[in-house]
Amino acid sequence: MTPDIWLPLALTTAIETGTSAGTAIDGTEIAVWRDVAGRVHTWEDRCPHRGMKLSFGFVRGDHIACLYHGWQYDAAGQCRYIPAHPDLEVPKSICVKTWPVAEAGGMVWVWLGAGALVPAPDLPQAVALRSLYLDCPLSRVVALLEGGSPLGGAAQVDGAVARVGALVIGLQSVAPGRSALHITVAGAPTEAELTTLTHKAEALRRVAERVEAAA
Ligand code: FES
Repeated sequence: MTPDIWLPLALTTAIETGTSAGTAIDGTEIAVWRDVAGRVHTWEDRCPHRGMKLSFGFVRGDHIACLYHGWQYDAAGQCRYIPAHPDLEVPKSICVKTWPVAEAGGMVWVWLGAGALVPAPDLPQAVALRSLYLDCPLSRVVALLEGGSPLGGAAQVDGAVARVGALVIGLQSVAPGRSALHITVAGAPTEAELTTLTHKAEALRRVAERVEAAA
């Protein structure tokens, strides 16, 4: 069952205006896209027509158009236009599943839970370092972070956020055996500090995947 917490799925800088990307949380495929007004959207990554991934589509103003047959969906997920039937008033039943979305601390967050929505995470302004994708379960990475990893001392983990020093890290379980860390740095780090932290993040990935392979 999906927990009733906000879950991170990307760095805000990774979803530029007018673009879309695909990701997943515990196997649920999610399209993340940003309209031309700058608003971000998190939808089921599946066109209601024939199932094409909407993350492959094209952002047009506040609509996204499916790559396959060009059906267009508005910001609420409602299909508004079918190119093969341009005069058709599209039935309201043709719509995409959407989830609440928020941006905080330099990350995009989605709410997949069935419970009452709570405010988005209260995080400091931060600089995006990078998203790190790992071939190991999130539990493995969290155990490493809490025990003291190449990123520094023992991390404090609260829900889907880990903190270690100036690092604030969004924890994403992508699928069984696959995870992602969305790493940000609070304050105003120098370029040299960011480079050092990037190398440490790479080291964390190597250690986590080595431990996983040996398990
Ligand atoms: S599969 Fe999306 S428009 Fe046909």
